[in-house]
Amino acid sequence: MAYSEKVIDHYENPRNVGSFDKGDESVGTGMVGAPACGDVMRLQIRVNAQGIIEDARFKTYGCGSAIASSSLVTEWVKGKTLDEAMTIKNSQIAEELELPPVKIHCSVLAEDAIKAAVQDYLQKHGSAAGEAKVAA
Ligand code: FES
Ligand code: FES
Repeated sequence: MAYSEKVIDHYENPRNVGSFDKGDESVGTGMVGAPACGDVMRLQIRVNAQGIIEDARFKTYGCGSAIASSSLVTEWVKGKTLDEAMTIKNSQIAEELELPPVKIHCSVLAEDAIKAAVQDYLQKHGSAAGEAKVAA
């Protein structure tokens, strides 16, 4: 098993594990599955009135790389606008965690989960996906 030290660190000390109330107006929930392996990741964001992500939580049923990817992303999104969160790329996650090629899909899961969480939040607030209110 050739996990990088960063993966092991996030795996052993995952950041922001848990959940928010799905029905809360300020919460966006993204739930995605990886067809390649059947793993499931749920990522939630809590957004303040200024459109800034103040907090995030995740629950992942998957491999160490998937857990590390979700843990890392919950740290990255804090303090970001929704638009900024949408620009997070799985390649950045894979690079930060030094994921080997067979584990790239684990980071894709994290990118998809954050996008799904932002879209869920936007839908709750009546804007179409990708049309974040925060002006560039
Ligand atoms: Fe599913 Fe990675 S193959 S845990
Ligand atoms: Fe499938 Fe990591 S999410 S092996």
